[in-house]
Amino acid sequence: MANRIVRNITIFLATLILCCLNTNAYAGNEVQCERPGKLFSPSKILLLEDTERDKWQKPEEILNALGIGKGQVVADIGAGSGYLTAQLSERVGETGIVYAVDVQQEMLDYIKKRIQEKDMKNVVPILNTMFDPKLPEGSLDIAILLSVYHEMENPIEFMKSLKSALKPHGKVAIMEFSDESPIGPPLKIRLPESLVVNELRQAGFALSQRHTFLLPYQYFLVFTLL
Ligand SMILES: C[S@@+](CC[C@H](N)C(=O)[O-])C[C@H]1O[C@@H](n2cnc3c(N)ncnc32)[C@H](O)[C@@H]1O
Repeated sequence: MANRIVRNITIFLATLILCCLNTNAYAGNEVQCERPGKLFSPSKILLLEDTERDKWQKPEEILNALGIGKGQVVADIGAGSGYLTAQLSERVGETGIVYAVDVQQEMLDYIKKRIQEKDMKNVVPILNTMFDPKLPEGSLDIAILLSVYHEMENPIEFMKSLKSALKPHGKVAIMEFSDESPIGPPLKIRLPESLVVNELRQAGFALSQRHTFLLPYQYFLVFTLL
C-alpha cells in the first residue's frame, strides 16, 4: 500500500516537472517568435508625449548621466515623436547637432512640424532603414536608443553599421523596459538585459556603465567601442 502511494506521488511529481518544462520551453519560443516587436504606431504618438511621462522617464537626468552638453553631436535613434530630440536640442545648443533618426516617415513628419514650431535649427531629421542608420561617418559623440532596440529587425547588423558613425570615443546608450515594469510594451516583446549586452558585444561594443537606480521602469546601459 505504502509503495503504491510513493509510486503515485513520484508519477505526479514527474508529470508536474514535465509540464513546467514544457511551459518554460513554450515561453522561450514565444519570446523568440515575437521578436522584433511591432513598430510603435504613429497613431499612438500621444502616448509618447504624455505629460506624466517626465516623472518616470526623467529626460533631464538621462542627459546628465550621459554628460551631454553644449556643442555635442548626438543621434536620437528611433526618435518617434521627438520627445527626447527636443530635450537634446536645447541641451547641445546652437553649436551642437541632433540627428533625429526614424524608419517611419510619419514620425519624421511629426518631428519636422515640431522643428518648425520650436525653431530647432540644430535638429536634422533622417529617414533611415532597418539596416543602416544613415548617419555621417565619425560624427557622433553619442547615439541614444530609447525604447527602440526591441523593435529593431536586424539589431546586430544595425549596431555594426552604427559604429562607423561614432567618433573614436563615442558612446551608445540603450534603454529598455524591464520585465518588472508595470508599464511598457507587452511582456513577450521585452528583452532581457543580458541579451542586449550579448548582442552589442557581437556587434563590437563593450558595456561601460549601467545606471541601475536612475529609471524606475527601464534598464539603462552605456556602451563604448571594443
Ligand atoms: C517605442 S517608439 C520610441 C520613440 C522614442 N525613442 C521615445 O522614447 O519617445 C520606437 C521608435 O523606434 C523606431 N524604430 C524602430 N526600429 C528602428 C530602427 N532600426 N531605426 C530607427 N528607428 C527605429 C520606430 O519607428 C518608433 O518610432
